[in-house]
Amino acid sequence: MQEKINQYTTEINSFQPKSNDELESFRIRFLGTKGIIKDLFEEFKTVSSEEKRVMGKVLNEFKQMAEAKYQTLKESLETVENSADSELDLTLPGEGYELGGRHPLSLVRKEIIEIFKKLGFNVAEGPEIEDDWHNFSALNFPEEHPARDMQDTFFIKKGGENGDIALRTHTSSVQVRMMEAGKPPFRAIMPGRVYRNEAISARAHCFFHQVEGLYIDENVSFADLKQTLFHFVQELFGEDTKVRFRPSYFPFTEPSAEMDISCSICKGDGCQFCKHSGWVEILGCGMVDPNVLDNSNIDSKKFTGYAFGMGIERITNLKYQIKDLRLFSENDIRFLKQFQSEMI
Ligand code: PHE
Repeated sequence: MQEKINQYTTEINSFQPKSNDELESFRIRFLGTKGIIKDLFEEFKTVSSEEKRVMGKVLNEFKQMAEAKYQTLKESLETVENSADSELDLTLPGEGYELGGRHPLSLVRKEIIEIFKKLGFNVAEGPEIEDDWHNFSALNFPEEHPARDMQDTFFIKKGGENGDIALRTHTSSVQVRMMEAGKPPFRAIMPGRVYRNEAISARAHCFFHQVEGLYIDENVSFADLKQTLFHFVQELFGEDTKVRFRPSYFPFTEPSAEMDISCSICKGDGCQFCKHSGWVEILGCGMVDPNVLDNSNIDSKKFTGYAFGMGIERITNLKYQIKDLRLFSENDIRFLKQFQSEMI
């Protein structure tokens, strides 16, 4: 009997279960109702009373040892299982998370703002829902004048203290608000979203983004306007960029001009983008019409100024050679991902 107990003790000591099933078999084999220990106690009844005195102690110790071993193994298996449940493996590398990128229009807007900031221009903002006064009348658009049709307007409500309510068609409305609220000199740019009732295609959209600019002080001349815009273009597109001004018409500027730059894609040689002319129009500009100054209670005898306005989409198209305006608002991740390296 002692011999058997010695053997079982070695077996129990070296037992290392890998699963609950293995541990359960161990329990049944040694501690079960028909298990080894039960058998040993049966056998114990048959030994001589002299032997009983020694073996009783040995057998009880053996039983306690087997039970303790079972308990310890059970507890350690449970801990292993719990950690497997939560899949906690501290040796695994961390789960990296993807950073979003900036929208190309935001990148270009930021670049434009940076250039003008260095020239001392502030950034001004205003509401996207505007009244007739700020979007048209104060800017010298006469009542019933066809110039109002130049910008196909989304009207929201008829009437009101300052005329019909509409989605602003340009951020020139912010210039009016700024002139009404303050005193010259003014030197600011107005970035923002604007709306026009146009059918959506590769070349037109019902909303787009502008940066307009306004500079009002004593003795501001067209030469100041030209030099500022020339500097801006060289900063944005590179020093070899050429500019040209063509006479144009806007109700709020006189004289008015449109500015073209040498096509940044073909460097002026002619390509599809510039319709083989070598030039691309990027903005409208001019000297602020004295009527506009008077409308905002600024002395037009004392102050002069210039204004300009450009579409951010246009400039982004040129910078990144994007041919379809719709890409900017479709949120196609494959398109947007291409700009991720430009995280700032
Ligand atoms: N507001 C004009 C437009 O949206 C642009 C412009 C601004 C032109 C300032 C001249 C001066 O088309």
